Amino acid sequence: MNQPTASQALDNPVTRDAMASFSKATDPRLAEVMGLLVKHLHAFVDESKLSKAEWLKGLEILTAAAQITDHERNEFSLFSDIMGISSMVDVVSQPPGGTPSSVLGPFHNHDSLIKPNGSDLTDGQPGERVWLHGRVLDVHHNPIPHAQIDFWQNADNGLYPAQDSAQDPQNLRCKIQCDAQGGFELLTIRPHPYTVPTDGPVGALLAASNRNIWRPAHFHIIVSAPGYVGLVTELFPSGSAYIDNDTVFGVRPGLIVDVKDCHNEDVAKQFGLTLPFKEVAFDFSLVQQSSTT
Ligand code: BEZ
Ligand code: FE
Repeated sequence: MNQPTASQALDNPVTRDAMASFSKATDPRLAEVMGLLVKHLHAFVDESKLSKAEWLKGLEILTAAAQITDHERNEFSLFSDIMGISSMVDVVSQPPGGTPSSVLGPFHNHDSLIKPNGSDLTDGQPGERVWLHGRVLDVHHNPIPHAQIDFWQNADNGLYPAQDSAQDPQNLRCKIQCDAQGGFELLTIRPHPYTVPTDGPVGALLAASNRNIWRPAHFHIIVSAPGYVGLVTELFPSGSAYIDNDTVFGVRPGLIVDVKDCHNEDVAKQFGLTLPFKEVAFDFSLVQQSSTT
């Protein structure tokens, strides 16, 4: 038997009235979004024949999410991530033609220090050295001069500074201004797979669903330049565990990078490395703002 669709739910007067109740919002987009949200949530209740006990359980889960959420921890954002909603918003809002976007995650910090292009972020810590470099281009492959890179990743123990008081809060993160040819480079370490926080209601749901709690290794990068649509994305070293099973659905084929052996003597000298060392090369492509508006 066919399941009822969202539009069939409109036959129900409760759905019709609840949708219509938002139609007079001053902001027409609010009216549209709330109308559609009500329509699809009602269709979900109808199709799943949600019981009162299940509805109450859902409210309990949301209450637990609110109780664990503070200015450093947002369980609602994590729910969005593990249900694939954050990634779905990326998919539908991404302007065509540029580098794919990916989830921001909870560990971005606005106050990363601006460091010189070519900085060594490793500061004597353990971890396999990786020379990460590339260019920021427009969709026609022209360099975007002086674009900004905002970079962060986890340490060799798999933890971000916010999870590990032994790390300097600025560890393995920085902002860098690209050169006039859009070029950037930094020395970092190989990132590691990482579990999403599991001590709240999201963790309980993942466990009850027999779901993986891991993300594959990744570098986080935000690329921005005046006149271009900002890009929030990640790079995933190929071969990382969980690359085919990211619990927040952030991996895109265009964001998987090879970590290669590099024999460049000048770079080895610049960073005090022995040959061969590891390199990741990646060019980002930004979409012009005017072409999307
Ligand atoms: C992360 O990349 O660190 C992350 C992303 C989404 C949810 C949790 C963690
Ligand atoms: Fe991350």
